[in-house]
Amino acid sequence: MKKVYIKSYGCQMNVYDSGRMADLLKPLGYETQDDYPNADIVILNTCHIREKADEKLYSDLGRIRPFKDEKAEKGERMLVVVAGCVGQAQGGEIIRRAPLVDIVLGPQTYHRLPEMIARALRTVDGKGIVDTDFPLESKFDSLPTMEEGVGPSAFLSIQEGCDKFCTFCVVPYTRGAEFSRPVQDVLKEAQNLVERGVREITLLGQNVNAYHGLTAVGQECGLGELLFKLSEINGLERLRYMTSHPRDMDDLLYQAHRDLPQVMPFIHLPIQSGSNRILEAMNRKHKVEMYLEIMQKLRSARPDIALSSDFIVGFPGETDADFEDTLALVRQVKYHMAYSFKYSPRPGTPGAALETQVSEEVKTERLNRLQELLMTHQIEHNQAMVGKITPVLLDRKGKQDGQFLGRNPYMQSVYVEAHPRLWGKIVDVKVTNAFQNSLTGKIVLKEDVITAA
Ligand code: 5AD
Ligand code: SF4
Repeated sequence: MKKVYIKSYGCQMNVYDSGRMADLLKPLGYETQDDYPNADIVILNTCHIREKADEKLYSDLGRIRPFKDEKAEKGERMLVVVAGCVGQAQGGEIIRRAPLVDIVLGPQTYHRLPEMIARALRTVDGKGIVDTDFPLESKFDSLPTMEEGVGPSAFLSIQEGCDKFCTFCVVPYTRGAEFSRPVQDVLKEAQNLVERGVREITLLGQNVNAYHGLTAVGQECGLGELLFKLSEINGLERLRYMTSHPRDMDDLLYQAHRDLPQVMPFIHLPIQSGSNRILEAMNRKHKVEMYLEIMQKLRSARPDIALSSDFIVGFPGETDADFEDTLALVRQVKYHMAYSFKYSPRPGTPGAALETQVSEEVKTERLNRLQELLMTHQIEHNQAMVGKITPVLLDRKGKQDGQFLGRNPYMQSVYVEAHPRLWGKIVDVKVTNAFQNSLTGKIVLKEDVITAA
């Protein structure tokens, strides 16, 4: 067997895409492995969303080079592939900067990877291949069904791209226009996953709640309706979705949260800023008031729903007062968890051209204050779980022997001691301790748990 090493940077869409690339290479005799030194193909599936992400690519390429050279000395080849959003954004520039790269491709063309590999292996002069088209044929039509990396919890990509053009974001340029997969394809892939033992599916999309796939009779189906359809699959116990946009909430989605026990009480709904002035400058197309109304509706549909968001501090023109508005919003919503970032000007986006850039020092100070506040709420939510019983899907091994890690419905990470045979099962856990980022607890023995053990 030949060996392929694939590294994913950034978002869950990339993790999903990496799995599909592994599936594509399997029929060609490539097996995935966890390290690169003796790999025949190294694929770096990159992310372009913030600055650090592409710096990481170049430092990884520097580490890989000696191993590629070593193989070449033995008369063997190591193909180096840069995939994903840095590939899309920088194309041939990557090969000029790092000539060890053989192939550059964007997120929309990885179904052509086998062909590109064959072409690269035929070239001896080391000239790189670049394919960053937005092709007419969809990659989803040419990909094999799920194989790689199927555990009890899996991702399923249903929507890709974005037409929103927030002024800070590269996604509309790197991932292209919004596209939804047909309903039947999604249902088939979900069924297939469940037959392989998957209990939890997370539907992925840059704007997942903008999903509007066509049904078999050519009607548009939104995310809420899709969740209703997926909930009919026997054995599929948990459904999640991310990432959503406040502009794309619809009534059926609230209803899905209210009526479907499979739909987990958690939503990642980024607002980015608590200031209407900044939201407008970001071209988010909604106000704080609308966002708070959505939160209210979600809580009415599912009172225990856990809320999560992304924030950007130091967007050009952000004043102290704007930032205070963000803190006030956070105090009001009290998120279960949230991600926060310093604004990073991305080449080609409107935000990068603004002259009112905020200094690094101010960004750092604001980020620290925001993260401290978010953390106090996260800890409060974690502490509120102590003494409660919560169902946990045991899908990962913990650091210690006999220890598992899993998520409860609210996406909190829970560590628990369990018999290996419980892997992949949903068990009731009584929470004993709360920390910043996780909980610990003990399995509550119910009859079905004893039988399973
Ligand atoms: N600078 C900082 N953060 C960004 N994000 C996207 N683009 C940028 C940028 N240029 C953040 C947003 C988004 C998350 C995925 O990454 O908060 O929701
Ligand atoms: Fe980027 Fe905005 Fe689209 Fe999200 S909605 S992917 S932040 S442009």
